[in-house]
Parts: sequence; structure tokens; C-alpha cells
Amino acid sequence: MSELRVLTGITTSGTPHLGNYVGAVRPAVRASLAPGVQSFYFLADYHALIKVGEPERIQQSTLEIAATWLAAGLDPERVTFYRQSDIPEIPELTWLLTCVTGKGLLNRAHAYKASVDKNNAAGNDPDADVTAGLFMYPVLMAADILMFKAHQVPVGRDQIQHIEMARDIAQSFNHLYGEQLVLPEALIEASVATLPGLDGRKMSKSYDNTIALFAPREHLRKQIAGIVTDSRAPGEAKSCEGSALFEIYQAFASDAETAALRQAFADGIAWGDAKQMLFERIDREVAPMRESYLAFMSNPGQLEDILQAGAVKARRLATPFMDSLRQSVGLRKLGSQSAARNAKPAKASLASLKQYREKDGLFYFKLVDPRGRLLLQSLSFESPRLAAEAIALLQSQGAVALTTMAAQIQQIDGVSPEEVAEALAQLA
Ligand code: TRP
Repeated sequence: MSELRVLTGITTSGTPHLGNYVGAVRPAVRASLAPGVQSFYFLADYHALIKVGEPERIQQSTLEIAATWLAAGLDPERVTFYRQSDIPEIPELTWLLTCVTGKGLLNRAHAYKASVDKNNAAGNDPDADVTAGLFMYPVLMAADILMFKAHQVPVGRDQIQHIEMARDIAQSFNHLYGEQLVLPEALIEASVATLPGLDGRKMSKSYDNTIALFAPREHLRKQIAGIVTDSRAPGEAKSCEGSALFEIYQAFASDAETAALRQAFADGIAWGDAKQMLFERIDREVAPMRESYLAFMSNPGQLEDILQAGAVKARRLATPFMDSLRQSVGLRKLGSQSAARNAKPAKASLASLKQYREKDGLFYFKLVDPRGRLLLQSLSFESPRLAAEAIALLQSQGAVALTTMAAQIQQIDGVSPEEVAEALAQLA
């Protein structure tokens, strides 16, 4: 437990477009280069099965997405890059979590509720065409996250509820079986742009307004020519505000380049010329990656090897952790050492760090002993992320971190520093 662990999954149900690149792939690849972070990226193909019933499409999308991430510079030596379905511990954990998840919690999931609402509105049976897979989606996702003890999960806003559910599910499990699962935080990057699509709405497969990321050069040019603009003629000043073309340009350009296009808009650049500028700018960034993408696409065996190596790396963590989780719920060899008489449930013997939110809207954590006695109390943090980072520091460095964190932590009367240090040294 030495580093901040960041994990995210990509559902293998489509072909990557420019919006995915700007909103997910590019920031994730950049983040993976930060020091002191252990990152996990995986292809969520079990999740894809919930939406896609065409085997060829699942396989093709897995290939395209894996090739995209590697072409965009993800380094499989540096990060753990794997395919969900190569990790049998994930469905195994899904079942353990299923058994501690309230059905009522899942009833409240947005995606499931939206399907039910749609059925109700159409006068159908509420669960018409709703699979148990859709209903269970949040539990599978919780298993993805909890399996690798992720502290932070970078996701879009639409996924926040899923991370909250993963926390709830982890808490139920920990409550019953001892503090073993790490409570994750959603990480929403405010600085990451949502790219508009051809029609100006958010670029999304569901609006059919996407620009393919690795289409051949001429195809890219054609797609860009299809971006909706207003009817202002050449020579007439154009507005940057609300211009999809301008916004897409900005997502690729430097500040100086953006300023130049802003000036060109004011000077009445023709839309055709502006589109040509956009095309050249995007192609400049994409062309080298496109080459590498095509090389991967024509060599699926090489990709498969990379994914297999990723699975080995991931399972080095997943297999022993799953073993200990199995033990803790009582799935044990008969007569083994950990049979009830000898077992010391983690919960009964270890202290734990708990993060929470107060009525003041701020975030806190505390260290409590196995009986719930307060050992250490944090001052407030502005965001759950900052609190989680402080917790991660304590988890990785133990009492050593207390010196650097002195200003954020309150000692408790009657609790000795030795007691705190000991508790931190053997956290649940
Ligand atoms: N549900 C996520 C999405 O649609 C994909 C996903 C699956 C995921 N498992 C995950 C994301 C675990 C983060 C962590 O975008």
C-alpha cells in the first residue's frame, strides 16, 4: 500500500471517437505518467455484454479500444492494463458483494430506473426488457473497483452514483466481515472538456454526431466538413461562443493557436477555411497515433499478448486478495487454520480509517479502534479527494505521515502517540 491507486474501466461497446479521446483517453494517459500513482485501466467487456448482444461487435470493440489506448501512449509496463474477463476473481467478488447489497439500493440506480420509467410511460410491464445484468451493473462495477483497492476512480458525472454505490457496498461488506475493502472516491476532472459533436450537442454515440478518432485522413476531412455552422458569409465576423468548430479546435490547440483562430473569426474567416484549419490541427495530433493504431489493428496477436501480460500483473493482486476475502466470509477448506475457533476476524482486531461528510458540507476522516474508540480526528477538507489523499498517505506511511500532516490532524486527549502509531501500523 505505498501509492495512490487510480482505476478506471472502458466499456467495450463502440468505436472510439474524438470526444472519447479528449474527455477520457488523453487525460488518462497523461495522468498515468504522474509520479506516485499506481494506475489500472481495463476493458470492461463484461459490462459491454449488458448492452451488446453481438459477439463480433464485442470482440471488434475490444480490439479497437485496446489499440486506441496503446496508440495514445498508455504504457503497459508502467500501468496495469487488462481485460476484465481475464480476471476470474472479478465475477467471484461480484457474487460476494451481491450477497451484501440491498436490492433497494439497486432499485435506485439511475440506469435501471430510467428503463423502468420508460416502460411505465409506455404502459408496459415495469421490467419489460430489463435484464438482471442491467440491474446488477453497479455490483459488477463495485467489484472492478474494490478488487484493486482503488482510492480514486476518474469517471464522467453520469457515473458518480455508481461510485457511491461501490462505497455503500464496500461499507456493508466491511461492517459484516471486517475492514478489508477500500472505500473509493469518484474523481471528476473539471478541466477536462466535453467535446461538442457535429451538431453542437455533446459528442456521443447516442446522438449519432461523432467524429471517428482514427478514420483515414480523407474521411476525417469529410467528417469535419459536416460540422454544423451558421450561415454567415465569408468576410462576416463569426462568433466563437457556441461554435462547435471553435470548441473542438480549442480542445486540440495551444493558447496561441486558439487566440489566432479567435482573431480569424473576428476577421470573418470563411467557414470552409476554418474547417480546413481544424482538420489540419486535429490531423497533426492524430496522425502519428493513427499509424500506431493501424499497426496494432493489423496485429491482434500482439495486443492479445499485452493483455495477457496485463492479466498476469492484475491477478498477482487479485488472486491473493480474493483468497483472503473468501476466508473472511467463511468459504474455507474444512479443518484449515482459519476455521472459526482460530480465526481473528480482521474487524475485531484492527483499527480503521473512516472518511465521512459533516453537516457543514466538508469532509473529514477519523481513526477508530476496533471497538469504535476515537484515536485521531482530522480537521476539515474541502473535497472528498483531498481527504482520500490524506488517508492514502496515512495508509502508506503510517505514523511517519503524522509529522507532515500535523496541521490537518487533531490529537485526542488520553490517546498516546504510541497507541496511534500502533493502530496505523496495522490498519484493517
Ligand atoms: N460504467 C463505466 C462507464 O460506462 C465503465 C466501467 C465499468 C467502469 N467498470 C468500471 C468505470 C469501474 C470505472 C471503474 O463509463
